[in-house]
Amino acid sequence: MKIIGGNWKFNKELREKEKAKKFIRELERMLEKEKIGKGKVIIFPHFLVLNEVKKIAKRIKVGAQDVHWEESGSFTGAQPSAQDLKKWGIKNVLIGHSETRKYFGVTEEKVRLKLKSALKEKLFPLICIGEDIEEKERGETKKVLRKQIEEGILPSLNKNSRFLIAYEPLYAISGFAKLRGKKPKPAQIEDIKLSHNFIKETFKKRGFKVKVLYGGSCNPQNAKELLSQDFIDGLLVGSKSWDLESFLEIIKIAKEV
Ligand code: PGA
Repeated sequence: MKIIGGNWKFNKELREKEKAKKFIRELERMLEKEKIGKGKVIIFPHFLVLNEVKKIAKRIKVGAQDVHWEESGSFTGAQPSAQDLKKWGIKNVLIGHSETRKYFGVTEEKVRLKLKSALKEKLFPLICIGEDIEEKERGETKKVLRKQIEEGILPSLNKNSRFLIAYEPLYAISGFAKLRGKKPKPAQIEDIKLSHNFIKETFKKRGFKVKVLYGGSCNPQNAKELLSQDFIDGLLVGSKSWDLESFLEIIKIAKEV
């Protein structure tokens, strides 16, 4: 089965402990019923409920939405460090999600530092890359992806580094689409194919075989088409992972394809 990630972002309900725990318990029950093994579903809760969720998750992997690059110091408002995550038993972590890049000033340099720190603590990063609509329209998709890979990722890797990539073009992410007054919809399959192949090829040239998830407006209606593509190794689901029913449907589709 391909990997299904659920990014809870800043969803209000899922920052409430009891609601988050109820969601996880029900999801666990379903994974058990469907005989879906450990590690196929990764949930990225907000830090406020990260530890609570981690305590009750069995088949579900639990990851952080971000990580700070230093262990300690004068960094008011910083995210937990890689050392904190390790202490809490959290192995998975999102790095460079476009919303952290856009809203919280995460640059390639910061992606590189976060990644370095996460890998040093043997965490398993899911690094998000992707172009914005203007860049796509200017025909710069490959240029943007190459820059993100060469400046933000490669310098922090060594030959044993383990990580995943998520291709998430910004124009397809539902939150950004709504800001532009557009109805959220995923990227075209042809565009996803070009980008995924380019990403895999770029890493291959440097000796890394990578899995690339797709993210951006995934839902139960489009999951089958997306998951049937051999160049898509899984999905990173945002807003549709906030709704248990939709998320369960996507997981069932992943199991079937
Ligand atoms: P979305 O978000 O599914 O709401 O478009 C995806 C993501 O940002 O990871």
